[in-house]
Amino acid sequence: MAEGNVGEGRCSGLDFQGLRSYIRRAMTRFARFAWGLLAYDVAVVAWGAYVRATGSGAGCGKHWPLCNGEVVPRSPRVETLVELSHRLTSGLALALTVVLLVWAFRAYPRGHVVRRASVVTTALMMGEALIGAGLVLFQLVAHDESMKRGLGVCLHLCNTFLLLASTALTAWWASGGARVQLRGQRAVAWTMGLPLAAMFLVGISGTVTALGDTLFPPTSLAAAFAQDFTPGMHLFVRLRGIHPILAASTGAAIVLAGGLVRALRPSRAVRLLSRGAALLVVAQVAAGLLDVALLAPVWLQLVHLMLADCVWITLVLTAASALGVAPEAVTGCYAGEDARSIPGGHGSDRRGLLGSGAHDPR
Ligand code: HEM
Repeated sequence: MAEGNVGEGRCSGLDFQGLRSYIRRAMTRFARFAWGLLAYDVAVVAWGAYVRATGSGAGCGKHWPLCNGEVVPRSPRVETLVELSHRLTSGLALALTVVLLVWAFRAYPRGHVVRRASVVTTALMMGEALIGAGLVLFQLVAHDESMKRGLGVCLHLCNTFLLLASTALTAWWASGGARVQLRGQRAVAWTMGLPLAAMFLVGISGTVTALGDTLFPPTSLAAAFAQDFTPGMHLFVRLRGIHPILAASTGAAIVLAGGLVRALRPSRAVRLLSRGAALLVVAQVAAGLLDVALLAPVWLQLVHLMLADCVWITLVLTAASALGVAPEAVTGCYAGEDARSIPGGHGSDRRGLLGSGAHDPR
């Protein structure tokens, strides 16, 4: 597709080249920063899983924010280095989120959706730090098998999903995505809302499974299945069987919802994102099966978690694009680029990116 021409007549199928050149032209520096922060957050979350999977959570003792009572530990063990590096990388994520907030307030007018999203993102990032600190200070780490730890990791997972969603939406709206409006869009809201809610259950069951695998590592596939049905076995182990069932049915729901939302809101962005979500689900289910077969090696746990985050983010953006309402009729392939300028940036005349979906319920 020629650059600069993303007209309706060329809108069939997935045109990645056209999309790439469009992104290059349309994205503001703030939007690029927000997408970069999102990618960085996904990496930090994966490193957090590495801390859990290697039992390094107590690497700094029960000290927080100090590490074993010191700012810089003098003779650190490997666990200390792993835990410390997670603290440093997540500390940087917090600092970058504050930059996002300040930048959003400088670049966007009062009441703008990007400002609001960046406030929510900052609050959730602080929540993430507090949950991490709580796990360390209450010693819900390393070999701790308590239900409190189970609840702690579930809370952590839910906060992480919300944080990734709000960071993705900040970037999305800064790239010209239209505001979400639920009024008059009940069918789309239910179609996307159900798989989004189900993803929390899948994530929670996954994180309990991961904890069970870390605390009671299976020695063989047969032993793992036997453990799952042994009465008196720890709850984290007995719950392990639920995750694949929930994940497979939610995966099917995501694929079905994608087909339905493409029919209800046939814009280029919705098509691209919903198909992306379906592809990621297939990859994720394959990774899950491999995880079981290989007895959850650490590298695969990280891949599985990153894929889960990517499924979640893509699903959130599919919903945002399907529920986004164009202020005017939208004509472009990437719905929004022809019809309007980006709704923000003081005096900015940049054009919207993927936004709005081709729907105006008014
Ligand atoms: C939509 C599909 C799926 C999603 C979103 C998903 C999500 C997750 C999440 C968030 C975790 C926790 C990761 C962590 O805290 O480190 C996890 C763990 C796990 N999942 Fe899944 N999962 C999916 C499909 C499956 C399937 C189909 C299977 C098996 C047949 C599976 C097997 C496992 C196992 C064994 C673990 C524990 C080891 C690990 O952390 O990798 N998953 N999953």
